[in-house]
Amino acid sequence: MNGEPYILRIKDVSKAFPGVVALDKVSIDVRPGSVHALMGENGAGKSTLMKCLFGIYDPDSGEVILDGKPVRFENSRQALDAGISMIHQELLPIPLRSVSENLWLGRFPQYKVGPFNFVDHKKMYRDSVALFKDLNMDIDPTVWVRELSASKIQSIEIAKAVSNRAKVIIMDEPTSSLTEHEVTQLFEIIRRLRGEGVAIIYISHKIEEILAISDEVSIMRDGKHVGTYLANELTTDRIIKYMVGRDLSNRFPPKGNVPGETIMEVQNLKSAKFRSFRDVSFTLRRGEILGIGGLVGAQRTELVESIFGLRPLESGHIFIKGKEVVMKTPTQAKAKKLALVTEERRASGIIPMRSVKDNMLLANIKRYVGPLGLLSEKQGERDSIEKIKALNVKTPGNKTLIRDLSGGNQQKVLVARWLLTEPDILIMDEPTRGIDVGAKYEIYSIIIDLAKQGKGIVMISSEMPELLGISDRIMVMCEGRVTGILDGKSATQEEIMRLAAKFIDD
Ligand SMILES: Nc1ncnc2c1ncn2[C@@H]1O[C@H](COP(=O)(O)OP(=O)(O)OP(=O)(O)O)[C@@H](O)[C@H]1O
Ligand SMILES: [Mg+2]
Repeated sequence: MNGEPYILRIKDVSKAFPGVVALDKVSIDVRPGSVHALMGENGAGKSTLMKCLFGIYDPDSGEVILDGKPVRFENSRQALDAGISMIHQELLPIPLRSVSENLWLGRFPQYKVGPFNFVDHKKMYRDSVALFKDLNMDIDPTVWVRELSASKIQSIEIAKAVSNRAKVIIMDEPTSSLTEHEVTQLFEIIRRLRGEGVAIIYISHKIEEILAISDEVSIMRDGKHVGTYLANELTTDRIIKYMVGRDLSNRFPPKGNVPGETIMEVQNLKSAKFRSFRDVSFTLRRGEILGIGGLVGAQRTELVESIFGLRPLESGHIFIKGKEVVMKTPTQAKAKKLALVTEERRASGIIPMRSVKDNMLLANIKRYVGPLGLLSEKQGERDSIEKIKALNVKTPGNKTLIRDLSGGNQQKVLVARWLLTEPDILIMDEPTRGIDVGAKYEIYSIIIDLAKQGKGIVMISSEMPELLGISDRIMVMCEGRVTGILDGKSATQEEIMRLAAKFIDD
């Protein structure tokens, strides 16, 4: 060490993109052996700042000092070599490769035979096994990444960052896809690394998580550093106030929707997939918000994807407005006025190289085809601009490429896409994942408004406050079975938790 109390100093770093000042003279100091949280609304500049540290972006001005020395990285390789590791917000593994190849990508162990270099697969395997064992992760290094769940992929990213023996590890929303158990494990790993003197920069929208794990919290708003605070001096309300710039006394808008007659009924649905859901029956009424709670692994996503025709059903019946329907493809489901907002924006959601507008209109091309089969530019233009306003999407315009939006703003575009299909039944899978408190409020308002207009809404959520805050009824699942349906007004977190862990034997 160099006598300085900081391992990393960010001094007056600025970065602009066409139409946006993403960072405006940000200065943050990070101590070794500490967890330094970074918070701020969607688009505040958190990921951009981290990408500047990690050599992905070159700051327009300002300075980064690592371990007492000014550094400037041209690429991530240099950042890694200097001791900075990063777990990215958007997971981009190479699906057609094994876990161990993903883990050691760009730094394969090699051996020499004469003038030739060979990849040492045996060593790679041994090192992977040792690493996972050390981190208490149950992952087989030989399987292909394509076969793994989002939570396992996220765990691999974590293992990869740890294996770099970094001095500073950046974690950009590391827990967005993790199960509760895996979050606990990650926190153990973080505490251990901290004990070894590693500095961890931790980005999350989950305030409870931040208060539990961090020592210091830096807050950003609109590209500026608002302040850095000791975590034990902060409260949820203060964090929200610093982030949003005003008090947000209510996290949920008032409800005014009145459930009416049944719009959809499902009876005894059983997945065609082994060990997925079975015996699932529920009704959904017009104007109703039906929450679906449960732990990761409860098969909630499988259930709604099967209803939407993305996965095959083995048996069961679905009735819409009293008539039995069969929806074997999403196209058939859309024709029945169903819409599904998916959970994984990378995998099944956005098209990164297309504009915000294209991404919004995608599910609904027919609506924009005029009498001669020509695409009606005007309507699409109007609709996309209207939705950008309604959802408060932070983007320079509707022609901006969606990949240039912050993670949370990409999610809003997905929500907009499905709103534009004007569905009767809107199914949303974790609609507010990665979305900041202010924008969550906006999405809740929209959900409640849709319910007021008589739509039926199904919302999968792993966030208890959200389930309790806006659902009329809450259906809880555990391992593919419905373990209870609660009234939203009287339900409690404890009840949901109990049902979420209630195993039903066959
Ligand atoms: N490559 C890029 N090109 C153009 N604009 C960009 C680019 N990357 C980020 N931006 C813009 O910079 C701003 C900050 O984005 P950033 O991704 O840093 O936000 P964030 O704080 O990480 O938000 P979130 O919580 O949603 O992940 C946003 O307005 C975003 O649209
Ligand atoms: Mg981000």
